[in-house]
Amino acid sequence: MEKITLTIDGKEVTGIAGQTIMEVARENGFHIPHLCYHPKLSKTGACRLCIVRINNTMLKASCTEPVVSDMKVITEDEGIKSIRKWLLGLILMEGDHNCLYCDADGDCQLQAYVKTYEVEQSKEDFPVIEREIDYITSNAIKRNENRCILCGRCVRACKEIQVSNVWGLCERGSSTHLIADDDKKIGESTCVKCGTCVQYCPTGALTFQPVLGKGPNWELKKESSICIYCGVGCKIDFYTNKEGLLVKTMGHEDGPNDGHLCVKGRFGFDFVQSPKRLTKPLIKKEGQFQEVGWNEALDFVAQKLSAAKEQFGPDSIAGLSSAKCTNEENYVMQKFMRSVIGTNNIDHCARL
Ligand code: FES
Repeated sequence: MEKITLTIDGKEVTGIAGQTIMEVARENGFHIPHLCYHPKLSKTGACRLCIVRINNTMLKASCTEPVVSDMKVITEDEGIKSIRKWLLGLILMEGDHNCLYCDADGDCQLQAYVKTYEVEQSKEDFPVIEREIDYITSNAIKRNENRCILCGRCVRACKEIQVSNVWGLCERGSSTHLIADDDKKIGESTCVKCGTCVQYCPTGALTFQPVLGKGPNWELKKESSICIYCGVGCKIDFYTNKEGLLVKTMGHEDGPNDGHLCVKGRFGFDFVQSPKRLTKPLIKKEGQFQEVGWNEALDFVAQKLSAAKEQFGPDSIAGLSSAKCTNEENYVMQKFMRSVIGTNNIDHCARL
């Protein structure tokens, strides 16, 4: 692979032919503001916020511009700053970007840049098309197109990561807007509720329904763990609110799942805090389940298994293990069935 040497803000760095300025800059610890760019998606160069100055003259979108030997890149100067400010101002003019009542307040890339560049909402009279908010038809995703900046990240994420192709941009010019399938409500579309589009949305245009009303974004605490649903072992970031309630999950971008989650990992967490959840062993006594201690429960199981083995032989007993357990737990389970009980009747819920 051909190595390319260039300078970014005066520092000599090395990239590979075919890489963009944005990619080489990120690998070398530079932050270039961006909205439509996401490292896991194809590049469109739509928002132009990532402009950089090349060889002290031209301005180019760094997310699409390939690196060239001896290139001199400036990521920000006074001219670039004022263009970024102007671009952000244009975005604010279209749609409704009032953070006070936005679900993404505190977790919005647009908001962060508007604060960084001290952009003020323009008072100019700009004809804005008000779009209907869809917060009823899907219990997973809320769509508020008035907050959409047409970066197309949801469209590309749905197409390139989930491969569902639900989202699209239709019409032209200032009428351009986001549609699901052939302009359906989310709940009536072919959306599979994986939530990938929400994870990639840089504003409050697409948000998760379950988290709404459970506390502001800046109060949520993040913990990374592994999904408990199947053997893939997707890495998840779990978010809890001030009261300790689990309210949201996000795919952890550096996990084996590359940040992606299915509908179960994304939304199937309500059981964690369900009052119906079994947390203590139960033994049926006189026709009624009664809570008992672990020692009593384990002695009871051991006694019943021994009795069945003695009376009907080891093959009268079967064990069913679970994808929700760790590899080690599954190993111990099969070992127990084979070595202690003496049967090969051991299976796993993954084949049910
Ligand atoms: Fe490069 Fe949008 S981030 S054009």
